[in-house]
Amino acid sequence: MGGLGLSTRFRFPRMARILIAGALILALVGAWVSVRPRLPAAERGRRLAERTGCFGCHGPSGTRGAANPGRSDGSVPGFQGDVMMYAKNPREIREWIRDGVTAARAGSRTWREQRERGALKMPAFGRRLGPSAIDDLVAFVQVMSGAPEPADSVARHGIARAEALGCTGCHGPGGRLARPNPGAFKGYVPSWDGADFAELVRDRAEFGEWVDHGVSRRLGRNAVARWFLHRAVLQMPAYADHLEAGDLDALWSYVQWLRGLDH
Ligand code: HEC
Ligand code: HEC
Repeated sequence: MGGLGLSTRFRFPRMARILIAGALILALVGAWVSVRPRLPAAERGRRLAERTGCFGCHGPSGTRGAANPGRSDGSVPGFQGDVMMYAKNPREIREWIRDGVTAARAGSRTWREQRERGALKMPAFGRRLGPSAIDDLVAFVQVMSGAPEPADSVARHGIARAEALGCTGCHGPGGRLARPNPGAFKGYVPSWDGADFAELVRDRAEFGEWVDHGVSRRLGRNAVARWFLHRAVLQMPAYADHLEAGDLDALWSYVQWLRGLDH
């Protein structure tokens, strides 16, 4: 064959080729870093709870414990509401999961009798699950029980409005879960306290755009982002016509409080 041989065709100097390859790899790694899922601990805990059998006794998502014949309370506690009767803080929730009982309760005869009488008994998961898995479960149980609560009344109003407007269906109680969302960029609905939030919402103005129009102006202008947004099963609705005066301030105040928590 005639034509130009490799040796006479223009070639990048060796050093330039190495630099270009390096830049490409960096770009790919960079892209991977920002698209890789970063689930909040509570969502990791929710998925783990599903796989670990917790919902068999504590009901769907831990919302409604199964009947527990033999015991005077009549049913397994759910994580919503009941939890504070049994566990006062994250340390006690951890003890329940790890040891099947809290240190404070283990010595009580009444408790032991109740436990023996009940058809269902809380297993001790300490031998099955490591400390970080148990921490994720604790985060999940806390989210389901609505703990902790903001002291500020505007922020508390924000939680109530999130519930009343239906935000919590997709974003989870308190906006703290990241449910699967087939077709979405990262495959889940972003939570309000996770790492994704800061990329999607830069300030109060962008927050308002998301809630009013279902997308921020910045993302709405991006063709790739638009493609993913329209392809997802769950899409962020536009709430402009459904908000009451003060809703955006209350929701924003709640989200600011949430993001200031030590996770
Ligand atoms: C076989 C049934 C069963 C399974 C499975 C089970 N639990 Fe329990 N759980 C109970 C019962 C019963 C109690 C009440 C304990 C008592 O009073 O002795 C309880 C109590 C608790 C409590 C303290 C009360 C409350 O609501 O906060 C937590 C927390 C808890 N379970 C979390 C979990 C988690 C997390 C899992 C899965 C890793 C799990 N449980 C799996 C039966 C179960
Ligand atoms: C039908 C499900 C659904 C409901 C209901 C919903 N959202 Fe969303 N929301 C989404 C999805 C999906 C996204 C992410 C869009 C994407 O994939 O980039 C999102 C994104 C957001 C964002 C961007 C940042 C982030 O990390 O979450 C905010 C803020 C937000 N929603 C607030 C709300 C508020 C406030 C409400 C209630 C008034 C609400 N959402 C109700 C599905 C929902």
